[in-house]
Amino acid sequence: MTRREFLEASLASALLPSPAGLLDPNRLPKFVDRLSIPPRARSIGIRNKFPLYRIPMRQIERKIHRDLPATRMWGFDAASPGPTIEARRGEPLLVEWANELPQKHFLPIDHSLHGAGTDVPEVRTIIHLHGGRVPPESDGYPENWFTPGKSVVSFYPNRQDATMLWYHDHAMGITRLNMFAGLFGLYVIRDEEEGALDLPKGSYEIPLVLYDRSIRNDGQLFYPVSGDPAKPWISEFFGEAILANGTLFPFLEVEPRQYRFRMLNASNSRFYYLSLSNKRPFRQIGSDQGLLTAPVVIERLTMAPGERADVVLDFASARGGRVVLGSDRYSILEFRVSNTVAAENHPLPVRLRTIERISEREAVKTRPLSLDGGDSDDPTLVMPMLLNGARWHDPVTEDPTLDTVEIWSLINTTDDSHPIHLHLVRFQILDRRPFDVFTYLNDRELRYTAAAVPPEANEAGWKDVVRAEPRMVTRIIVRFEGFAGRYVWHCHVLEHEDFEMMRPYEVVKAH
Ligand code: C2O
Ligand code: CU
Repeated sequence: MTRREFLEASLASALLPSPAGLLDPNRLPKFVDRLSIPPRARSIGIRNKFPLYRIPMRQIERKIHRDLPATRMWGFDAASPGPTIEARRGEPLLVEWANELPQKHFLPIDHSLHGAGTDVPEVRTIIHLHGGRVPPESDGYPENWFTPGKSVVSFYPNRQDATMLWYHDHAMGITRLNMFAGLFGLYVIRDEEEGALDLPKGSYEIPLVLYDRSIRNDGQLFYPVSGDPAKPWISEFFGEAILANGTLFPFLEVEPRQYRFRMLNASNSRFYYLSLSNKRPFRQIGSDQGLLTAPVVIERLTMAPGERADVVLDFASARGGRVVLGSDRYSILEFRVSNTVAAENHPLPVRLRTIERISEREAVKTRPLSLDGGDSDDPTLVMPMLLNGARWHDPVTEDPTLDTVEIWSLINTTDDSHPIHLHLVRFQILDRRPFDVFTYLNDRELRYTAAAVPPEANEAGWKDVVRAEPRMVTRIIVRFEGFAGRYVWHCHVLEHEDFEMMRPYEVVKAH
């Protein structure tokens, strides 16, 4: 029995709390609440020539559905997702992140996990700007957490291409709980190159943050625990309620024309496989780190935790009708298409930008890095998942030199797809190639079983999260530029990240 089979069996039996008391979202009326748009962050002044924002983390109550009482969560200001920060390329800004949360956590902390012992305060936060090219002291290193009553100021240079980033908590050993509580928000960088493209904007450009939750009948969040009270950690979280911008089954009134959706998967573990009920395709124009070279027509959009997709949907053919965005068996969002258009859209540009491929010849180093599973012969033993066999507290082993190119070969020996994220950098996906896991585990020898597959067209731009697929070697090519110093790389399944699937890495200056 594998660990996962064991966990599934225990879920089915009585080891885990029974789902009685849990809300079945399908018993609620669908599409009765309007999609909410996160507020926009406003700067409070200028400090050292730069606009200063002050964004407090607070416990809040938020309605997620008309027929449910308000849900307690943690948000920024009065919002979760928090206020969207709008930045312009080349114009730095400062954010004071203030921890105004209560002293006690309301979700089940596992004190046996790295950095979450009983020797540290329960409520700790540190904010990371995901996808930001940010100096190390502002990057949100997991151990740089701070407690209620404290704040830190982060400097964001915005010296990078237009794209949608997001900010979120990254505190050691409790990231999955802090994010589950609601500590994340969007950060959009714009530049002239993208602005010149005549893409849908203003009310025709809509952010869409997707995440799943378990909700109790009283409307409150429920995060499950394992059967072992000393080790409540669970290896993945999947909830039946899929929220869009914080609302369950929202609707959005649209005109019969094109809209641009800036999408983020902010779930702990869930992957989305998005499609439209009218079978119309998406046109994806951008990924994690900005525009693709050209729009890509796509019927089913896969999004792993941490990934962003910039997509254009055209409702022209659905005039007067309704279209539902769904994933697998889940309905997420209903578009109500009006009959008239207030402002016609222009056709999408055929070319979006040029992306120069990093040549493999530029790489000064190739690092084989295994993703190791948590399976053991004893199914009752909960084992961490590891990056290259190492734990968080082991010495740094990934130490690229500033301004050099490396290839990281992610050798996934597990049965899960792990979305791997590197801080500081953007990268390109080279390919994925199946290999013989048994031979690798026994002899550390890579025996490929089929040819390498290049990335899909919608993954061929700049990325900061890559799905390392099971039993495959996924190769990415990275230029380590911007800043030297200590950063992290990790799996963006938050339950994995909190249980050792995260490692520090160090960008070193050439000497
Ligand atoms: Cu989105 Cu290290 O995080
Ligand atoms: Cu993982």
